[in-house]
Amino acid sequence: MSNYHIKNLEEYFTVYRKSVRYPETFWDEIAEEHFMWRKKWDEVLSWDFSKPEITWFKGAKLNITENCIDRHLRIRGDKTAILFEPNDPSEKAEHITYQQLHDRVCQFANVLKEKGVKKGDRVCIYVPMIPELAISLLACARIGAIHSVVFAGFSSNALATRINDSDCKIVITADGSFRGKKTIDLKGIVDKALETCEGVKTVLVAKRIEADITMKEGRDEWLQPLLNNAATTCEPEIMDAEDPLFILYTSGSTGKPKGMVHTTAGYMIGSAFTFKNVFQYRENDVYWCTADIGWITGHSYIVYGPLANGATTVMFEGVPSYPDWGRFWEIVEKHKVNQFYTAPTAIRALAKQNIAFVEKYDLSSLKVLGTVGEPINEEAWHWYDENIGHKKSPITDTWWQTETGSIMIAAIPYVTPTIPTFATLPLPGIQPALMDADGNELKGNQVDGRLCIKFPWPSMARTIWGNHQRYKDTYFSSFENMYFTGDGAMRDSVGYYRITGRVDDVVIVSGHNLGTAPIEDAINEHPAVAESVIVGFPHEVKGNALYGYITLKEAGESRNQDNLRKEINQLITDRIGPIAKLDKIQFTDGLPKTRSGKIMRRILRKIASNETDSLGDTSTLLNPEVVEDIIKNAL
Ligand code: PRX
Repeated sequence: MSNYHIKNLEEYFTVYRKSVRYPETFWDEIAEEHFMWRKKWDEVLSWDFSKPEITWFKGAKLNITENCIDRHLRIRGDKTAILFEPNDPSEKAEHITYQQLHDRVCQFANVLKEKGVKKGDRVCIYVPMIPELAISLLACARIGAIHSVVFAGFSSNALATRINDSDCKIVITADGSFRGKKTIDLKGIVDKALETCEGVKTVLVAKRIEADITMKEGRDEWLQPLLNNAATTCEPEIMDAEDPLFILYTSGSTGKPKGMVHTTAGYMIGSAFTFKNVFQYRENDVYWCTADIGWITGHSYIVYGPLANGATTVMFEGVPSYPDWGRFWEIVEKHKVNQFYTAPTAIRALAKQNIAFVEKYDLSSLKVLGTVGEPINEEAWHWYDENIGHKKSPITDTWWQTETGSIMIAAIPYVTPTIPTFATLPLPGIQPALMDADGNELKGNQVDGRLCIKFPWPSMARTIWGNHQRYKDTYFSSFENMYFTGDGAMRDSVGYYRITGRVDDVVIVSGHNLGTAPIEDAINEHPAVAESVIVGFPHEVKGNALYGYITLKEAGESRNQDNLRKEINQLITDRIGPIAKLDKIQFTDGLPKTRSGKIMRRILRKIASNETDSLGDTSTLLNPEVVEDIIKNAL
């Protein structure tokens, strides 16, 4: 018997020890008993972090949609697979059963085939949170196409970069999207992006907001009529375990976004196993993750993980503040949600509202609460625990990354005792290590260092699309024989992990991972700007916000600084998206540099965070006087 569903702490420790001592046996048993294979594997694992090359379940054949849909049809055909809750509460929620999901995925898959999409082709998906989004991922997987979902809040420029990087020939989108009171012209954004994407020959458009959009002859087609004419069965493409399932872009601390490549079997097992344990999902529970499918959280914990377990997964189109700040709780009551998974930034925003928005609703269905994306502060943790969980629902603070594919460190509810702000213990199969600056592993407890993982796990990304060297440099070159996460962490006296934040130039803003370099590149395009540095600083709701230090080409630039600030933020919105806008922009005559010309970001970070009494020695700088000046004019 495999230990697929852990039920108490003693079992956790037994299973964890086994997963470290005999990792291959551990994963082999889970794969064998809980998934559907067309052919079993020849070898569970082979790995070499120095190349890096990792393969799981080599030789196995499968299709992930058979695991997420077909195998449930016999016993769960009429069960709701996806429960779609629209933006407008007066619009009826849609219950898509496993049988209906099967039929709609097959129809969509047939449309893709008709448009010439084949195994291994990349399909860009730029669709809001409507059922077609989840269905399009699964339709790609059905025929072995590699989906590349781009969050539908990204700008045309960011979309174009991603389309071109993975050479997508087809884009799936919608006429627009609803976000609370607003509508967004998604198709317009796609049209603009495609001005620089010559490879895209086909655009399929889902109808959502009934907007009057332009359709380019020979390129754009409405999706619905094509779906109506397509057959509701489609033989799944039989994939190798290591065939890519999808690409998902994440920010890097330098350069263009990294297209993380996830493969079929390992990703399926990782997302399914963690879903079952971290949410303690039981048949007939209703599970809701509030993330967008445009992020890894939505891939793993709205689509693949829940469906692989035959769960009912809620998909919410709207925002927590519409029509008012009670919306999340109204949905919990309405659908009797049992597991609720959201981001600390949302919790902080909700906690600032009148408590009447919470008290109005019956939240007694809740059994498990989750958080993801950034460290949760103690105050937000207690608010969540007291007002939403009524101190009865354990909170699982889940640490993981786009690169890891599934949750790595998290409490198993009702199993692992929780402590606010601690992600607690690694899940079975995950072997964390904390490293000091010299590359030594810090053994024992009560240590603080850089968080690495020292043994492969099935759902880890295998490469960066088109740039394996960058994959090696970013993740496997800082510490020998280790995957480096980019995060700092401490291990307390009982072995619990607390994530302390990024140790590189990535800033987590409202749970979104933003590299500072691409934002600086965007700012530097402004004709008045000479140089810019972006750092994060603590923000009450967003966790972190962005602070920009900017020098202008003409010192004492006569233009109105407020106008310049607006122009700079507009440039960032155009190049990346509104999520990357700066909260504070300080114009300065110089930036602190070392004698070799390197900008001292550490000092700027401290100033932005108002920690000027711990700047350290600045006398060795090339230009120590600018520090005083920057502090004096800090915002
Ligand atoms: O810094 C960590 C933070 O988010 C980063 C990963 O971001 P992304 O790839 O966008 O994936 C987010 C959703 C999985 C991590 O390197 N992070 C994520 N979860 C937590 C966290 N920091 C602290 N606690 C968490 N629970």
